[in-house]
Amino acid sequence: MKNQVSCFCVFILCVLSRKVLAKVDHFYKNCSVPETCGDGQTITFPFYIRGKQPSFCGYPGFEISCNSNGNPVLNLHNIDYIIHEISYNNQFVWVSNAAVSEANKANASCINLSSHRIQNVSLPEDRFALLSNQSELVLLYNCNSSLPGELIRYRDGICENENKTAGTVLALVRNDPNLENASRACSGDRVVAPVDVYAGNGAFSNIGEVIKRGFLLNWTASNCSVCEESGGRCGFNASTYLFKCFCTDRPRAQQCDLANGRITKVAIAIVATAIGILIFLAFCFREKIFIE
Ligand SMILES: *[C@@H]1O[C@H](CO)[C@@H](O)[C@H](O)[C@H]1NC(C)=O
Ligand SMILES: *[C@@H]1O[C@H](CO)[C@@H](O)[C@H](O)[C@H]1NC(C)=O
Ligand SMILES: *[C@@H]1O[C@H](CO)[C@@H](O)[C@H](O)[C@H]1NC(C)=O
Ligand SMILES: *[C@@H]1O[C@H](CO)[C@@H](O)[C@H](O)[C@H]1NC(C)=O
Ligand SMILES: *[C@@H]1O[C@H](CO)[C@@H](O)[C@H](O)[C@H]1NC(C)=O
Ligand SMILES: *[C@@H]1O[C@H](CO)[C@@H](O)[C@H](O)[C@H]1NC(C)=O
Ligand SMILES: *[C@@H]1O[C@H](CO)[C@@H](O)[C@H](O)[C@H]1NC(C)=O
Ligand SMILES: *[C@@H]1O[C@H](CO)[C@@H](O)[C@H](O)[C@H]1NC(C)=O
Ligand SMILES: *[C@@H]1O[C@H](CO)[C@@H](O)[C@H](O)[C@H]1NC(C)=O
Ligand SMILES: *[C@@H]1O[C@H](CO)[C@@H](O)[C@H](O)[C@H]1NC(C)=O
Ligand SMILES: *[C@@H]1O[C@H](CO)[C@@H](O)[C@H](O)[C@H]1NC(C)=O
Repeated sequence: MKNQVSCFCVFILCVLSRKVLAKVDHFYKNCSVPETCGDGQTITFPFYIRGKQPSFCGYPGFEISCNSNGNPVLNLHNIDYIIHEISYNNQFVWVSNAAVSEANKANASCINLSSHRIQNVSLPEDRFALLSNQSELVLLYNCNSSLPGELIRYRDGICENENKTAGTVLALVRNDPNLENASRACSGDRVVAPVDVYAGNGAFSNIGEVIKRGFLLNWTASNCSVCEESGGRCGFNASTYLFKCFCTDRPRAQQCDLANGRITKVAIAIVATAIGILIFLAFCFREKIFIE
């Protein structure tokens, strides 16, 4: 009799605490699963991986796809950029042109611009901006093959292309004093590529490396830290077009109600446990009294 009663009490206790603890809101659950494309970078708000994370776990315009090497890829105005690193605290992302990286894997000694021409970067201005310490590289195509001496060094690190479709290509930072003369020697496209380099003196050790390394963008989205610090998961409601803080009990506008979220559940669980133990003890006592 004594054993049966205690078994029953333990059973009731288990059911009770499980029920209380397991009732977690499904938005919270869905956005709590960390995802990666395979390279180890964790993708969370404002970014989300198409097909792996529901769009409500991210912010509009921050959809990421995965390439076959397991890198996260951000598409900005139809150009793919590989994401190398996301700094969630400082709200910036380090990216590089995916086509250029792909085309130049084989050859580290020069950058091949002949068929995978870098295009002008155009950013969705309401979302992304170049970090203010980035420099801009001007690529000049179809330049005169017999260049004056002071311009020859701007060819360094760019592969000579056999069939001359792009002509000679020159690369200079935008504030280089030779830019005007170089432009005069070139008749082709002029493309501006952002690079993460200090270009105060206008000289690069390796243009190819600099272009392949890419650049840093900062972003504008809702600040997630208040919601996160309250125990929530950040998200976005596309139909109301509003930021959401997904809490364990339900979604909220800004942050979770600390007094009403997890803490309440833990408190209920503790109270339930205490009541269970009391009932159990009461039974034991009654039996003891009857037996004696
Ligand atoms: C959210 O999670 C629930 C289970 O917790 C699952 O059934 C549902 O498909 C998920 N929704 C999305 C959009 O992933
Ligand atoms: C540059 O790329 C083109 C097209 O992919 C290729 O034909 C050419 O041989 C490459 N040049 C160098 C120097 O690698
Ligand atoms: C030059 O190379 C480009 C690709 O790099 C190719 O599309 C084009 O057909 C080539 N032209 C000649 C004349 O070989
Ligand atoms: C981030 O972007 C904003 C424009 O959206 C710009 O004003 C600001 O200077 C940038 N911050 C840094 C550190 O570059
Ligand atoms: C290339 O430069 C040489 C020497 O400066 C000049 O004679 C020639 O006309 C230039 N060619 C073109 C197409 O500008
Ligand atoms: C790599 O670049 C160097 C320098 O331009 C060139 O001589 C070499 O042929 C290239 N190698 C390959 C595999 O494209
Ligand atoms: C540009 O070229 C002209 C004549 O070719 C020369 O006098 C001038 O010094 C050059 N400018 C720079 C900044 O090198
Ligand atoms: C790239 O942008 C610059 C201005 O920043 C412009 O002068 C140039 O024509 C553009 N190039 C192309 C190929 O659109
Ligand atoms: C620009 O600023 C970022 C963030 O502070 C930093 O990681 C990066 O090295 C800086 N780049 C240059 C060229 O100073
Ligand atoms: C986000 O908000 C927190 C708290 O208000 C603040 O400390 C932090 O600097 C903010 N982050 C950004 C990138 O604005
Ligand atoms: C967005 O809001 C609508 C209306 O309030 C609601 O029905 C829907 O479940 C919400 N979706 C998300 C992802 O919050």
